[in-house]
Amino acid sequence: MSHIEKISIDTAADFTQARDFLALGIFQEQGPQPAQLGVDEALGGLIAKVWEQKNFRGKQGESLVLYGSGALARVALIGLGEVDKFTADRARQAAGSAVQAARSQKATACELLVFESELPAAELTQALAEGLILASYGFDAHKQPDKDAVELERLSLLGAVDKDGLERGSIMANAVCFTRELQNEPANVMTPSRLAEEAEKIGQSANMKTTVWDREAFTKLGMGALAGVAAGANEPPKFMTIEYTGGPSGQAPFAIVGKGLTFDAGGISIKGAAKMDEMKFDMSGGAVVLGIMRALARLQPKLNVVAAVPSTENLLGGSAQRPGDIVKAYNGKTIEILNTDAEGRLILADALSYVVDKHKPVAIIDFATLTGAVLVALGHRASGMLGNDEDLLAEVQASADRTGERVWQLPLWDDYSEDIKSKVADVKNIGAGRLAGTIAGAVFLKEFVGESPWVHLDIAGTAWQDKDQPYIPSGGSGIGVRLITDLLLKRAGG
Ligand code: BES
Ligand code: MN
Ligand code: ZN
Repeated sequence: MSHIEKISIDTAADFTQARDFLALGIFQEQGPQPAQLGVDEALGGLIAKVWEQKNFRGKQGESLVLYGSGALARVALIGLGEVDKFTADRARQAAGSAVQAARSQKATACELLVFESELPAAELTQALAEGLILASYGFDAHKQPDKDAVELERLSLLGAVDKDGLERGSIMANAVCFTRELQNEPANVMTPSRLAEEAEKIGQSANMKTTVWDREAFTKLGMGALAGVAAGANEPPKFMTIEYTGGPSGQAPFAIVGKGLTFDAGGISIKGAAKMDEMKFDMSGGAVVLGIMRALARLQPKLNVVAAVPSTENLLGGSAQRPGDIVKAYNGKTIEILNTDAEGRLILADALSYVVDKHKPVAIIDFATLTGAVLVALGHRASGMLGNDEDLLAEVQASADRTGERVWQLPLWDDYSEDIKSKVADVKNIGAGRLAGTIAGAVFLKEFVGESPWVHLDIAGTAWQDKDQPYIPSGGSGIGVRLITDLLLKRAGG
C-alpha cells in the first residue's frame, strides 16, 4: 500500500480507552487547551509538568513524545507555533509531523485530537486530513516487504471533526498520492501507454470521455512537434484527453494540460549523466493533470473541464530528430529545433493548440517540468508562474495561499518574445542562451494558446523533492494537484 486512504473518526474522544499513539497540537503561547486536559489527566499530569518545566514550548516544528503507563501508551505533543501565525499549511505540517512521530515510535495507529484554532472548522479538518494522509505516503511498490517492520495502518481524527472538511481533504490527498505514485514509478514502468491506461481508468470511474491517439493518429492530426520529439522514442507515444462534464452542456470547459515526458535523456542534445535518473519525473505535469481529474471525478463540481496530456520519451538514436530540424505544430506554426533537450515546449505546443482549437476553453492552465532555470530562480520551494491574464494569475495565487502550494510570478513582457525568433522558421525552441530560461519557455508556449486566458506553471523545482518534509516525503510531490483542484472548486462556486 502506498498510503492510508481513509481516516477514521471518534468524536467522543474518551481518553480512558486504550490508545497506542495519540497526538496533540499545542500553540506556543497557549499550552494545553481545555479539551486536552482529559489527556493530561490520563497521563497523571505529565503534560502540565513538561510545559511548566519548558521541556516543550509549542514551537513550530517542535515535537515531544511522552510515555504513559496507563491507557495512553504514547502521547506526542506537536508544536503549532504562534497563534496569530497559524495557517492551514501549519495544520497540514502538524498532522504530517504527528505521522512522522508515530512512525518513528513504531506505532500501528496515529490518532490526532482536533484542537481549537482561528481557522473555520471545515478548513482545519480538511488541512489535518490532508496532512495525515499525505504524510502516510511511501513508494514501496518495488521492495520486498520487511517482515519485522511495524507498519502504520490506521489514521484517526478525534473530537471536533468537520465531516465535509474530512471528505474534501481525504479526496484531495488521495488524488495527490495517486499522482505521486505515477511520478515515482520508473520510466520502464510508467510509459506513455501506461499513462494512457491510467487516463482511461479515471475516465471510466466517472463517465468521462477519454480519447487516446497513437503516433499515427496524432501525426495525422497535424501534431508535428510531438511527432518530432517522439521520433526517437522507444516506447509508443500517446496523446490523450479526458472530458469532465459537471457543468451545463455547451458551457466552455476549463482546460488543464500537462507535460507527460516519461523519460528525458535530452535527445541528440544529450544531457549529462549526473542525476539523469531524475528525468523519470519529467512526466509530472501529466501526472498532476490526471490527479486533478481523479479528484474531480469524486468531488463532482459543477463545471466542465478538459484535460490533455502529450506523452513520449525524449531519447536519442538513428531515428531521433536533429538540432536544426524544422517541424510544424498543430496550429501551423513552424519551429526550428536548436536544442532537442528543449522538448517539453514542443509537445506542449501541439497539446495547447489542439485544446484551443477543439475545445475553445474559457481558460487554460499548463503544468510542466519545463526548465532547469526555474530551479536557479526559485529552488524547490515555489513553482514558477507566468501567464497572459491578470485575473487568472490572481486566481492561482489565491489557491496557492489556501493550499500552501506556493507559486511565484515571473514576467511575460512582449519583448521577451524576440528571444525566440528564428531566421528560418516562425519560432525557435530556445531563448537567449542561459538568460531568462523560464521566461523563454513560457513565451514559446504563449505562441500556441491564441487569445485564451492562460497560466503556465513551471514545476521543474517542485514536482519532486530530495528532502523529507512533514507531509511531503522525498520523491514525487504531487504539487499542483491540490492547487488547481482548489481553483476549480472555487470556480464551480464551492
Ligand atoms: N525536463 C527538462 C527540464 C528540467 C531540468 C527539469 C532539470 C527538472 C530538472 C527540460 O526538458 C529541459 O531539458 N530543459 C532545458 C531547456 C534548454 C535546453 C533550453 C533546460 O532547462 O536546460
Ligand atoms: Mn529536456
Ligand atoms: Zn524535459
